[in-house]
Amino acid sequence: MNSTCPPASVGSAATGAPAAIEVRRLSKRFRPDAPPALDDLSITVPEGVIYGILGPNGAGKTTLLSILCGLLRPSAGSVCICGHDGPTPQVKRSLGVVPQEPAVYPTLTGRENLEYFGRMQGLRGARLAERVAACLQIAEIEDAADRRVEHYSGGYRRRLNLVIGLIHEPRILILDEPTVAIDPHSRSLIHQRLRELHASGVTILLTTHYMEEAEQLCHRVAILHHGRVMIEGAVAELLARHRDDSIQITLDRDPPADLTRSLQLLPGVGELHLNGRCLVATAPQPMQALSSILQGLGAQGLQAVAIDYGQASLEHVFLHYTGEGARA
Ligand SMILES: Nc1ncnc2c1ncn2[C@@H]1O[C@H](COP(=O)(O)OP(=O)(O)OP(=O)(O)O)[C@@H](O)[C@H]1O
Ligand SMILES: [Mg+2]
Repeated sequence: MNSTCPPASVGSAATGAPAAIEVRRLSKRFRPDAPPALDDLSITVPEGVIYGILGPNGAGKTTLLSILCGLLRPSAGSVCICGHDGPTPQVKRSLGVVPQEPAVYPTLTGRENLEYFGRMQGLRGARLAERVAACLQIAEIEDAADRRVEHYSGGYRRRLNLVIGLIHEPRILILDEPTVAIDPHSRSLIHQRLRELHASGVTILLTTHYMEEAEQLCHRVAILHHGRVMIEGAVAELLARHRDDSIQITLDRDPPADLTRSLQLLPGVGELHLNGRCLVATAPQPMQALSSILQGLGAQGLQAVAIDYGQASLEHVFLHYTGEGARA
């Protein structure tokens, strides 16, 4: 199968840029008696952007990426990548994939892993050697190039995992939680490399649970919940849309589990979400609501250590669409 998508699919209405990836009405059901992992999901990833797929555990992020990479077949719907219907062999050569769990051979060295995956992508001879050297440098793991990967730290493993996806210089890079559970230095290095790849014209599609990461890196995001797109758009637009009525309060300690229930009863308070020590509220008259929330916190022996007002964060947008009060 190597058919091209109809012309209507090649443009992104949202940005005007051609579509690198178009997902149309995708559904995936693993078992007939279980809810679908993806439910009539459609998104368009314009060429040349960093696009974030966000969503709570089980939202369907990995399932979506697995279908895009050709590892899973959808139950319904289709994907169009670089103008081709489905992840055809030709399309797969333009895709770089960085899975959630580092897919590396532990008994091989970093260099041998890169050589192996480079050969799998059809690289040979001087070109292969050149790409291996470049990837070791991009990942900043040259000092460990000839050590077996089983002796690598988690951060080095992830950095190697990233450049294995880059060995053949793909046009589109797909990453599943590329910075989960690594130290700030490795995270910042990966961010820097993703920005450089974007600057060189690579389209990047990534999933993350870190809202700050998505806010700093991504141009557009889709927030998934129960396999559906709750909201999609440019990060700047989503933040602007949620700016005026938001209050974010950082608490001095972990609050009791029923905190939101008691605060919700206060006058003038709209939606309330709690994520760790971060309380996010929306209210039609935020200043009045803030004063009653602070009183309510005080009554429970809690104090605010930071208050952000009128400055929506992606965390706020995420909780709004996926938290308890999410509007379906
Ligand atoms: N191979 C499978 N067989 C059965 N159910 C599956 C399989 N893979 C995923 N699921 C289910 O599909 C749903 C979506 O899972 P998926 O892994 O895509 O979520 P996710 O958004 O990537 O979550 P996380 O943030 O935890 O990585 C979940 O309910 C999950 O249990
Ligand atoms: Mg996942």
